[in-house]
Amino acid sequence: MKRVLFVCLGNICRSPTLEAVARLEWARAGLDVEVASAGTADYHVGRGADPRSIAVAEAAGYAMAAHRARQVHAADFCHYDLILAMDRANLRGLELIRPADASAQVGLLLSLAAIADMHDVPDPYYGGQRDFEQVLDLARRAVAALATRLD
Ligand code: 4NP
Repeated sequence: MKRVLFVCLGNICRSPTLEAVARLEWARAGLDVEVASAGTADYHVGRGADPRSIAVAEAAGYAMAAHRARQVHAADFCHYDLILAMDRANLRGLELIRPADASAQVGLLLSLAAIADMHDVPDPYYGGQRDFEQVLDLARRAVAALATRLD
């Protein structure tokens, strides 16, 4: 079994969306993958996902209501095989706390998913409906692309 952790800033919009899409789509594809998400910041620890993210995800059939935000911690770098940052600022945040004995591969989601036209999943927090829909669209594309690396 592989273990994959998605990481954004607050763990209430982007990475919980990736987690929800990956959990359902990789299970549908018959892949045995443990998925989770976390934030580099502690602003929203213990809270549910952003209601705008939940609404967009659930309209497409992805369950996010049970999510609770947590911050990424050093032990994650030994538990997970793959830690995927939503944007380059999140990747820098991860590199600052990566322990010397980290075993996880740490990278940028859209680069590892070979979505060539974009580096970052844009932060939708101060945006509108279309920004949240773009996150879901990118999540579905990235999850489909990554499936081929996980079997
Ligand atoms: P996320 O979005 O990193 O995709 O969960 C954000 C959530 C909260 C904040 C920023 C981004 N914030 O500044 O509180």
